[in-house]
Amino acid sequence: MSGGLPIPKPAAAAPNVKDPRACFSKETIARFDAQVKQYPTTRSALIPILHYAQEEKGWISRETIEMVAVYLKLAPIQVWEVATFYPMFHLQPVGRHVAWVCRNISCDLRGCNEIIDAFHKKCGVAPGQTTADGKLTLRLAECLGGCAQAPVMDIDGTYYENLTPEQVGSILDRLK
Ligand code: FES
Repeated sequence: MSGGLPIPKPAAAAPNVKDPRACFSKETIARFDAQVKQYPTTRSALIPILHYAQEEKGWISRETIEMVAVYLKLAPIQVWEVATFYPMFHLQPVGRHVAWVCRNISCDLRGCNEIIDAFHKKCGVAPGQTTADGKLTLRLAECLGGCAQAPVMDIDGTYYENLTPEQVGSILDRLK
């Protein structure tokens, strides 16, 4: 489940990726190198490296997939299948903040749809959309692991539990 974001189709022609080390910052390449050293095969480092790539670029573009593939000496499809399987990788640009609202059973029974409605009322976004000012993207999660405190939302790694629709507006107001 992609949390409302459509998965783009891979294009037939690969972009002209020459040197992945020139496409990321030195700091990010150092993080890549440190990860690769920890595993017997480069493929094992793929998920953390995609996280680092996303932290630098903001999202996982097709070019980023190609660059990671070259860096790890993998086929681009091997990177693509992982990037498209896990919803935490953004396959299109997102806002400065990303809100994940859980929609699985506990959160559903405890009112996640009202939370989603509160986002729409506050800033006009539906799941998978980004506000016009680029401040926030709303995505849906299948379970955030806080089922006993449903409904649950995660914004940039901060959890909000036992959330009410009334709290959504003030939480969003506090985001820069
Ligand atoms: S069902 Fe929402 S956190 Fe698990």
